[in-house]
Amino acid sequence: MCGIVSYIGYRPAYDVLIKGLKRLEYRGYDSAGLALIDNQGKLNIYKAKGRVSDLENTIKNQDCIGTVGIAHTRWATHGEPSVKNAHPHCSQSGHLTLIHNGIIENYTSIKQHLLEKGFTFKSDTDTEVLVQLIEYKMLTYDLDLVEGTKSALKHVIGAYAIVVLDDRNPSQLVAARKSSPLVIGIGEGQEEYFLASDVTPIVEYTDQVIYLDDERIAVIERGKDLYISDLENHRQIPDIQRIDVELGQIEKGNYSHYMLKEITEQPRVIADCMRGRISPDRKHIILSAVIDYGYLLVKAKRIIIVACGTSWHAGLIGKQLIEEFCRIPVMVEYASEFRYSNPVVGPDDVVIAISQSGETADTLAAVELAKEKGAFIFGICNAVGSSIPRATNTGCYIHVGPEIGVASTKAFTGQVTVLTMFALALGEKLGALDQAKYEEVIAELVTIPEKMKQTIERNEVVKKLSYVFTYARNFIYLGRGYAYPVALEGALKLKEISYIHAEGYPAAEMKHGPIALIDKEMPVVCIATSNGQYEKVISNIQEIKARDGRVIAIVSDSDTQIRKIADDVIDIPSTIECLDPLLTVIPLQILSYYVAVLKGLDVDMPRNLAKSVTVE
Ligand code: F6R
Repeated sequence: MCGIVSYIGYRPAYDVLIKGLKRLEYRGYDSAGLALIDNQGKLNIYKAKGRVSDLENTIKNQDCIGTVGIAHTRWATHGEPSVKNAHPHCSQSGHLTLIHNGIIENYTSIKQHLLEKGFTFKSDTDTEVLVQLIEYKMLTYDLDLVEGTKSALKHVIGAYAIVVLDDRNPSQLVAARKSSPLVIGIGEGQEEYFLASDVTPIVEYTDQVIYLDDERIAVIERGKDLYISDLENHRQIPDIQRIDVELGQIEKGNYSHYMLKEITEQPRVIADCMRGRISPDRKHIILSAVIDYGYLLVKAKRIIIVACGTSWHAGLIGKQLIEEFCRIPVMVEYASEFRYSNPVVGPDDVVIAISQSGETADTLAAVELAKEKGAFIFGICNAVGSSIPRATNTGCYIHVGPEIGVASTKAFTGQVTVLTMFALALGEKLGALDQAKYEEVIAELVTIPEKMKQTIERNEVVKKLSYVFTYARNFIYLGRGYAYPVALEGALKLKEISYIHAEGYPAAEMKHGPIALIDKEMPVVCIATSNGQYEKVISNIQEIKARDGRVIAIVSDSDTQIRKIADDVIDIPSTIECLDPLLTVIPLQILSYYVAVLKGLDVDMPRNLAKSVTVE
């Protein structure tokens, strides 16, 4: 939530910052702003409510000169979206400017203290309090920007990634982070540096980056070595890494939306996710984390999966896979609930944290808590170098490439693919899975990318249906067993980008209450492949039809019965039950996409949302 980008070097900073903000816009799009120091050393600040394009329009006739600057795109936490609350924020003297991603939890008491010292405030944000506190420390204790920032941060409770600029010293940027991400890009000969919330604004200029560690401060000066330390001045040698993201991966190309691009990419990226992890004879899963830590994983008395949103839905499928193949009991917890529930967790537990961004604040906090209590932590993440994988004991990346559309699509199928391989590898290690089943699932898994492709090729059927349902006010999604989490995920996709109220239920739960909602206005999406409890799902569909509900069924090609009773059917290639979610979710992603497009909504930037939820 909130994207920050900064530049110091020899290029026109404005171009780097605006392009960077556009790449980070998925993190928040309530308002945007930037600060530049021009060639005469004058600080200029530009802000606009709304999108980065609104900021561009606001400043289009101005010069925007300068080779150093900081910029921000906001997802509002404290203070409504407005120009006044947009970042960068300035100190009282006007010399310091700061951008911030995160939340200063104790900002009220700091603000009170500063008010008593005569400071005045222009915005309602927690961020302004921080920049004023830095100035207060500098003035009161005669400190420079670096020491003033360190001193201020020692008083801060909360999460932050910040960059501060002092117009009296325009050749220096000071950055710091705690629980919010910050990446530093190093240009050729250290003549330029880039800072950003993730690598996407940096990838075009350099592939050398440092993922700033938690609770570190960095002093960045053109032409000089970086100075990184903790708040107590213990210097840290920077760990320079190569970015493995290419420009093409973060651009929309010919697609109208990132979401459509990412849905369409699934066959390829799921093949990438499996690459090198299935033996050439297709008889073994090779997950290095399971090989290296297998001796520990096999001792797990219980596995606890922690995640949020779509990743939590993937976790529900993971539970079924692990219980089926490993016979270890699995609990799936919302990370936000887990961390505040005084959880019973300890050294006998393995905690699996699932997160696309690797930055979700609640999931990260759940990981820290479980680690403190002695559990072994396994991460399943997408964003390489992000905070969660760095906080875990080991794990597997899903390797589906950057996901930029706010609605998660390919990350879900990547997570389910990794969970499948994890369950197979561990099940085999434990001897809980017979060899024939192990080989059968692997053989079928290998066919999934091609079947995903066939599923996507049939998207015209789904597109036609979306015309029919564009103006529906409610939707119900039903599934049993492996299909139930897919029902939840289908409902979430529709809600978040189409703004249509939708509920996912286990199909058999209908008759315990929700069936009262069924009438001829109510579309009911039934995930009803020929696997699992097929006959029972047919009965559930009959119950809906008997009450005039309109049934849209996702069925296997081989289906003969449901197509006779459902109002509409979407065919998908047949596979085995545990792999069904990898295919059944695709028409649901496509349905929500086209409904949102037909409603004229902004698919990639749905209202109120932001990708990467770095606040609680
Ligand atoms: C839904 C969606 C969110 C995320 C959730 C967790 O489409 O994207 O529900 O799944 O915010 O995010 P990660 O996986 O980054 O931890």
